[in-house]
Amino acid sequence: MFASGNGSNVEEICRFFEQDLSVTVVAVLTNNLNAGVIQRVKQFGLKAEVFNKADFTEGGLLKKVIDLKPDLIVLAGFLWKIGNDWVNTFPNKIINIHPALLPKYGGKGMYGHHVHKAVKANGERVTGITIHYVNEAYDEGAIIFQEEVQLTDEDRVEDIAKKVHTLEHRHFPSVIDQLLKKESNEV
Ligand code: GRF
Repeated sequence: MFASGNGSNVEEICRFFEQDLSVTVVAVLTNNLNAGVIQRVKQFGLKAEVFNKADFTEGGLLKKVIDLKPDLIVLAGFLWKIGNDWVNTFPNKIINIHPALLPKYGGKGMYGHHVHKAVKANGERVTGITIHYVNEAYDEGAIIFQEEVQLTDEDRVEDIAKKVHTLEHRHFPSVIDQLLKKESNEV
């Protein structure tokens, strides 16, 4: 799993799979030395590894991840753009969660509160989450799963963020589970 910040999704995913011996979190990777995710995964006996831009773009980290032979690479609040070397090495094996109903509110600069602010500014009555495969373009890979949540005029940006986070925590672990189990059935 890759995360750049808080890491509440990573935490929920670790908790979901804690009792499942068929699924192992082989690595938690972050580009941010101060990321909340580093503390959050300690309770699961995991040590997040911090990497820098050169590790990420010059092949060092890619090689390490190849050696781990992951069945799935999960981006959970990871803010750097995934390079083509990663996409080509792991076709249909990298997934991301986006805090809106793509293709709306996606693309460069559309992350975190920027997304919820735009949703609020447009007076949307519905927002949601999208789990999708990662390809060369930001937020444009094939959609795996979406779920909606209703909004009211009273919802502030923070309320929208909270509703979306709740949806993420509820669905992201089980979508990952389904993808992993589907893959092992196909082998
Ligand atoms: C989530 O809202 C996710 O959709 C987005 O980044 C946020 C990460 O939240 N990609 P957290 O770090 O898991 O709490």
